[in-house]
Amino acid sequence: MEGFSTIIEPFRVKSVEPLRLTTRAEREELLGKAGYNLFALASDDVIIDLLTDSGTGAMSAEQWAALQRGDESYAGSPSWFRFEAAVKALFPFAHLIPTHQGRAAEKILFSVVGGKGKVIPNNTHFDTTRANVEHSGAEAVDLVIPEGKDPALRHPFKGNMDVGALTRLLEARKGEVPLVMVTITNNSGGGQPVSLENLRAVRAVCDRFQVPLFLDACRFAENAWFIREREEAQRGRSIKEIVRDIAALADGMTMSAKKDGLANIGGWLAMNDGALAQKCRELLILTEGFPTYGGLAGRDLDAIAQGLSEVVDESYLRYRVRAVEYLADKLCAAGVPMVEPPGGHAVYLDAKRMLRHIPPLQYPGQALAVELYREGGIRGCEIGTAMFGKRPDGSEQPAAMELVRLAMPRRVYTQSHVDFVVEAVLHVFARRESLRGMRIVEQPASLRHFTARFAPL
Ligand code: F0G
Repeated sequence: MEGFSTIIEPFRVKSVEPLRLTTRAEREELLGKAGYNLFALASDDVIIDLLTDSGTGAMSAEQWAALQRGDESYAGSPSWFRFEAAVKALFPFAHLIPTHQGRAAEKILFSVVGGKGKVIPNNTHFDTTRANVEHSGAEAVDLVIPEGKDPALRHPFKGNMDVGALTRLLEARKGEVPLVMVTITNNSGGGQPVSLENLRAVRAVCDRFQVPLFLDACRFAENAWFIREREEAQRGRSIKEIVRDIAALADGMTMSAKKDGLANIGGWLAMNDGALAQKCRELLILTEGFPTYGGLAGRDLDAIAQGLSEVVDESYLRYRVRAVEYLADKLCAAGVPMVEPPGGHAVYLDAKRMLRHIPPLQYPGQALAVELYREGGIRGCEIGTAMFGKRPDGSEQPAAMELVRLAMPRRVYTQSHVDFVVEAVLHVFARRESLRGMRIVEQPASLRHFTARFAPL
C-alpha cells in the first residue's frame, strides 16, 4: 500500500485450526518412534509444519464456494470447462490433460517420451521428476548455471539453465533427447527463479536442435513475480502477461496445482503436439481417469480454476514473496547460512556451512531438520544426501548441497508464527557445534527420504 512499509497479509481469517503445543520430552519420544524421519510424524504432533508448500495452502472463501459449484458428471462436466478456460487463460497449449497431481503428469509424460537410451536435461529435476525419468530407464541430467550451486552467492536468477552446457549436451546426444525441461521456480536448487531472458535463450537452443521445451511450472506465479521485480525489461508488466510470455516459449508443461494452483490437490499435463497428447491420453485413461476429469473430482477442478485467478494477483504475490523474505532476513541478520537470496516458497538453510563438523554421509541436513523439530516442533525437510545421495546402482555419494527447506504453506501462517520459527532456528544455531550426524538404519530402493529410518550417531 502506498505510504506504508508494512506488507500485510492481503486477507483475514474466517476459520481457524488449533495448534497443539507439545513438550520437548514428548517430541524426543515421537522422534524415536518416527525413526528420526519427519515424514513419519503425525502432523498433529507438529507445531509449525514447514515440510512442504504442496497442497497445504489455505483456500479462499471463493474457492470453498467453487467446491459447491463443482459438478461431478463423468464426462464433459461444466467444472472441466471452467478448469480448461482458467488454465488456457495462462497457458494456451492445445491439449490439456488433468491429473491428480504433478507426478502423475510426469509419470505419463516420461512413460511416453522416456525409456532406455534417452536423456532428459533440466535446470534441476525435482525428486519425483528425476525418479519418473529414471523409472522409465532414461537418464536425468541437471544443467543449472554454476551460480545456482553456490548457496552463498547472490544472483537474481539462480534457477537459470546453463545454456552452454545444454548446447554441448545436444551437440553430443541430440538423438537421445526427447525434450528439454525447465523447472520454474527451481525447487531443488533453492526455489530460485529462471529469467525470461534465460528461457528465451533455452528456447533458441531447442529451436536450433529441433527439440521441444517443456516447463515444470509448479511455481510459475512466484517465478513471474521475480521476473517482474528483477528483470529490467519486465518491470511493471502484469503477472498474467509475463506468465503468457513464459508459456509462449514452451511446447508443453507439467503442473502440480498443489503449489501455484492454490489448491489442495490436482495437476495437469499440457502440450501442443497432438500425436503426443493422444498417447498421453491413452495412459491417462488407464491410470487416472476420463480426459475431462483425470484423477480429480469436479469440485477440485473448480477449486483450481478459482485458485489460478487468485495466484496471479499482485497483492497476493507481494505478500507471498515478502513472507519468505521476512524469515530469511531475520535469520541472515544473525548469520545463519542459507541459500541466498531466498526463493519464492521457502528458506533453505545451508547445513553444510552450519554444521561443518558433520560429513555429508552422516546427513548434516537430516541432523538439522531433526534438531529443529526437537527444539520447537518445527517440521522442515532435508534436501541433501539423505534425499539425493543414493545412485540408481545403489552406491552412495554426497549431494551437491546439504539443505533444510523451511517451506511456507500459502496463506496459512502469520508473522508471529514466523517469529517463533526464527527463535527456534536461532536457538539451534547457537549450539550448532553440539549437533551430531545420523546414520541410516533402514531404507527402500528409491525415494528413500520418505520412509528411511535413521539413528543418531
Ligand atoms: N515438480 C516440482 C518442481 C515440485 O516441487 C513438485 C512437488 C513436483 C514436480 C511434483 O508435484 O507433488 O503434485 O506430485 N513438490 C512438493 C514439494 C512435493 O514439497 O516441493 P506433486
